[in-house]
Amino acid sequence: MKGIICYFSTTGNTKLACERINSKVDNVEFDYYDITSSEEPNFSEYALIGFATYTDYLEPGKLMTMYMKSIKGNGKPAFVFNTFGQMSGNTLGIMAKTAKESGFKLIEAHSLHVPENYPPLIKNGTTNENFPTSKDLVSFNEFITNLNSISKQLDSGQTVPEKSVRMKISVKLIQKIMGGLNMDEMGVKNVHKNQCVSCGICSKVCPYDAIKMVNDYPVFDESKCESCFTCFNKCPTKSIYTKKLDGIGHYPKPHANLVNKMKEV
Ligand SMILES: Cc1cc2nc3c(=O)[nH]c(=O)nc-3n(C[C@H](O)[C@H](O)[C@H](O)COP(=O)(O)O)c2cc1C
Repeated sequence: MKGIICYFSTTGNTKLACERINSKVDNVEFDYYDITSSEEPNFSEYALIGFATYTDYLEPGKLMTMYMKSIKGNGKPAFVFNTFGQMSGNTLGIMAKTAKESGFKLIEAHSLHVPENYPPLIKNGTTNENFPTSKDLVSFNEFITNLNSISKQLDSGQTVPEKSVRMKISVKLIQKIMGGLNMDEMGVKNVHKNQCVSCGICSKVCPYDAIKMVNDYPVFDESKCESCFTCFNKCPTKSIYTKKLDGIGHYPKPHANLVNKMKEV
């Protein structure tokens, strides 16, 4: 049976976890769709759709919610999945709700605790590099086992029960406090021109098309920026800086611990 995982992964943690899901769910052969790319998949080719994102200020990465709202499920079975570094908040709840509102039938959902890629926290020493714990890996495996059996049921024409994910009301309060502290603001971005090698990676990786290369250097459109830190994390010479962060806190790719743990799954 063919499936597709539509993913939003700024630094690779979520993508890596999706690759493990794909290699372990033996009844489904998944294609991948990076939702930051322009080519749209043809959903009619797939019997199972997955949506996978990272947690972004206690919610799904904004582009994922926008994408899920823009497509039609027509009753197709779907699962939602996210990685997070600290507190998943309502990521899964919002993804589940959005999938249902777009007409998908939700059949599974899971959140995986992984290393932190949020530079302000990494700068303060909160890397969470030892996540997932062995307990987290057991529940990730259970999710994969469930996906396997559900896909077999779907393949044989059986009806699969719809999954529900509860919203956590307390998250709204935490978001209010975080908003008050301005935690969701990356602030104005600049580039150290003496360090910048004009590779244009920042412009290519920006999910919101907020960076243009002008005269070989990035120019940031602050009105489009969603403070996802992808440009900051991915800059190979650590040349992008803000008032609060300069040369520290980067997470360019999945932590080696996570890479090794995903091999064990
Ligand atoms: C801008 C930003 C906001 C984040 N907000 C949260 C959050 O609210 N809760 C959390 O647990 N992790 C948060 N994280 C951490 C990521 O969700 C986590 O490290 C994730 O695995 C990154 O996945 P990716 O490499 O696929 O983008 C945030 C990361 C970034 C860059």
